[in-house]
Amino acid sequence: MKPFIFLIVFTLLFSCKDGQKPTYASKNAVLFSNDTEVVANDQEHLGKKLMETNCYVCHSTTATEENRIAPPMIAIKKRYLMGNTSKQAFINSLQDFIKNPTEKNAKMFGAVKRFGVMPKQAFPEETIKQIADYMFEFEIEQPEWFDKHYDQEHGKGNGKGMQNGKGNQKGKKINQQGNNIKSQSYSERGLSYALSTKAELGKNLMGKIQKEGTLAALKFCNIKAYPLTDSMSVVHNATIKRVSDKPRNPKNLANSKENAYIRIFKDDAALNKESDPIVVESNDNVKFYYPIKTNSMCLQCHGKPTSDVKPITLAEINKLYPKDLAIGYNENQVRGIWSITFNK
Ligand code: HEC
Ligand code: HEC
Repeated sequence: MKPFIFLIVFTLLFSCKDGQKPTYASKNAVLFSNDTEVVANDQEHLGKKLMETNCYVCHSTTATEENRIAPPMIAIKKRYLMGNTSKQAFINSLQDFIKNPTEKNAKMFGAVKRFGVMPKQAFPEETIKQIADYMFEFEIEQPEWFDKHYDQEHGKGNGKGMQNGKGNQKGKKINQQGNNIKSQSYSERGLSYALSTKAELGKNLMGKIQKEGTLAALKFCNIKAYPLTDSMSVVHNATIKRVSDKPRNPKNLANSKENAYIRIFKDDAALNKESDPIVVESNDNVKFYYPIKTNSMCLQCHGKPTSDVKPITLAEINKLYPKDLAIGYNENQVRGIWSITFNK
């Protein structure tokens, strides 16, 4: 991870001079360049960061057993390592599922039953390769409750058949206090605010859909999206907003600067490329922007009328939001951005 941090520091240092000029925390410059390099330390593995950014929103390591909306990555690792799986086979099987997440392709039947099939989102193939490589090679974080849960589900000592895989089977318990704000770059800090808010909203939204269906979730979003986002602003002592060029709630309309950043992120999405956060510094505060992309789950409220959005849902949307523009999306499109401001 060192080159990554170095680049951000570098760009931040040089951007201070021109005040408002945006900087791109250009991790892509180094992201995929050291493919074959042997990474000795798990902290330096590119897959770790990619997993935290792309997967933890749902595959959380901090959600309680009751509150989670998807199995933790350690459970997936254990399941996918069953049998004498080679690294290449492990990577391939993850790629196969991500490209086509259907009930038929799923190996975790209990998870599908409890949470519904994983929503489809077109992740870059290289991203999944890095994540799978990291999962295979290293001890990955696991939630506090996991060992007990696993023994209950699979029986103590019953995991014998699972010890065959080559990768390290164990997870490590995580220390939530781990990340000190002061040691983080502005880009990392903004990203942690964005992802924790996304996880909070996502947990509530998916939980509601899983338990009560789309219509109940829609009403819930109408009432709760703002209070939830605001409460995360208080938690982080930052201004956290979701804005869009095509908002549902007119209060979320992007301003001209935000629209320019949305266009940049849309170009990335069209190329199926990981976007870098955009960080703009002024004298005492930092503005942070990061895309919010659709997956297949979003389409029941933001997709094409009738084919994706059921008439009954559409009628309720039109009732609650007569000026709604947030319809007609496909998967993997930029629905809006996080626009976050915090003090230096
Ligand atoms: C929007 C929520 C969400 C996100 C984001 C997400 N997942 Fe999932 N994923 C789920 C849910 C729900 C399940 C459980 C249902 C299932 O197995 O399909 C799941 C299951 C899985 C499985 C097991 C599938 C099976 O049953 O065999 C794999 C592998 C997986 N996810 C990988 C990933 C990876 C890698 C990422 C990040 C690049 C990711 N997921 C991001 C929701 C998500
Ligand atoms: C159950 C219906 C529903 C689903 C599913 C849903 N949304 Fe929304 N979304 C809404 C509603 C309602 C609002 C307006 C909330 C408000 O009034 O603050 C909204 C607002 C938003 C906004 C704020 C900008 C705006 O248009 O007002 C973003 C960004 C957004 N949704 C992204 C997503 C993404 C990404 C997904 C999938 C991961 C998703 N939504 C899934 C109903 C939904």
